[in-house]
Amino acid sequence: METAKTINTENKKTLIPKGKVYIETYGCQMNFSDSEIAKSILVKNNYQLTENINEADTILINTCSIRENAEQRIFKKVENIKYLKNNNSELKIGILGCMTEHLKSKIFELNSEIDFLAGPDSYRNLHNIIDSSKENKSKALDIELDINETYDDIIPLHSESSISAFISIMRGCDNFCSYCVVPYTRGRERSRSPETILKEIKILINQGIKEITLLGQNVNSYKWKNHSGYILSFPSLLEKIANETPELRIRFSTSHPKDISRELIEVMAKKDNICKHIHLAVQSGSSRILKLMNRKYSRESFLEKIEMAKQLIPDIGLTTDIITGFCTETEDDHKETLSLMKDVKFDWAFMFAYSERSGTVAAKNLDDNIDNKKKKQRLKEIIELQSKHSLESNKKDIGKTFEILVEGFSKKSDKMLKGRNSQNKMIVFPAKNFAKGDLIKVKITDCTSATLIGE
Ligand code: 5AD
Ligand code: SF4
Repeated sequence: METAKTINTENKKTLIPKGKVYIETYGCQMNFSDSEIAKSILVKNNYQLTENINEADTILINTCSIRENAEQRIFKKVENIKYLKNNNSELKIGILGCMTEHLKSKIFELNSEIDFLAGPDSYRNLHNIIDSSKENKSKALDIELDINETYDDIIPLHSESSISAFISIMRGCDNFCSYCVVPYTRGRERSRSPETILKEIKILINQGIKEITLLGQNVNSYKWKNHSGYILSFPSLLEKIANETPELRIRFSTSHPKDISRELIEVMAKKDNICKHIHLAVQSGSSRILKLMNRKYSRESFLEKIEMAKQLIPDIGLTTDIITGFCTETEDDHKETLSLMKDVKFDWAFMFAYSERSGTVAAKNLDDNIDNKKKKQRLKEIIELQSKHSLESNKKDIGKTFEILVEGFSKKSDKMLKGRNSQNKMIVFPAKNFAKGDLIKVKITDCTSATLIGE
């Protein structure tokens, strides 16, 4: 459907923009990366983007379903902006991403201000969905998942001022961890061709990008089969990118512990431009709970992989995700999580209370029997322990010198700059004459549990 009009100015054909779109993104990095794909498609189809919600005639909210409070936040956001429709009766509000798959057309009942839905595999059609919502005035939805959609040929619209970019190398997930809604909201796993990944990276380098993060729900199961049947695995892809772009800092996220191999850690150890950081979501320290979560590794095999990583890269940065209060979790299971944390001493962790998600295996087959108070109490205990470990880990860095990529001014002061070291720790230091994008050496003089302070 093509509804753009053209005007002739001095023999040049100029397209009249179809409207101004404002996009707000919630959730994981994958969602932020998807918003950049959606932006690219909209611009190609003659929509303008705006950073000012008040001047938009279409507001898009890219959503997250991972926990109940993520969905509640988004409904609250729609409640907060619905007054904008009083000033502009043509204003459309569209919901993108995971919530469209999780709640489907029920979203329209839950909030009547929402005009259309577009699922994670429908962004090629986004301009048409907006057009038809504007023309027909009826609720529109396109939420079909598509096993072949990788947006291979779309060059995402990255922020021009960034020096780092996220590149999605695969979509979806086949792991079906029993608590997780992602396989249902993002569909089956599919990998993108190495050629288009490298093409995008080279365009980014020309735009001044100095660091990339390769993204996927589980990058370690990346698999690409070429015409002659040769299979490219994630470690080989990583090494190929590291070899072809030696000037770039390379990160990746996120990894499933069951798929971490010695080969991957060896590639990380071998290549200077691959950052020495791995995010390995353990979720629980109890093998019984890990089995119920369908994580396909035990406490022991997780610890063995951590040992192997520390042996091959002694200064490796390790971070994790932990869920407290999963179905049937006993005090003893919780203690096993605390003891695993003490064994590994993660540098940082993202910690959550279990939130039952409809449609998942846990919601269907397991009893969400840990009351909220207990979940919160256990969460508080693991957060306190992690803060202690993060502080200890940061204190060990005092006196060391790290190479960091300057990302910009620190949140608190424009006299201080910030940047991350290879291990992904945030460092703030006096701005002096340094600028965003510089690779500089910083000596650590002090720290908090969240930040290193240097000079
Ligand atoms: N409840 C709480 N936390 C969850 N996560 C995923 N699903 C749930 C859920 N239902 C957490 C996991 C995952 C991270 C992205 O979010 O720790 O690694
Ligand atoms: Fe969810 Fe598990 Fe897939 Fe991660 S690996 S997205 S936790 S199902």
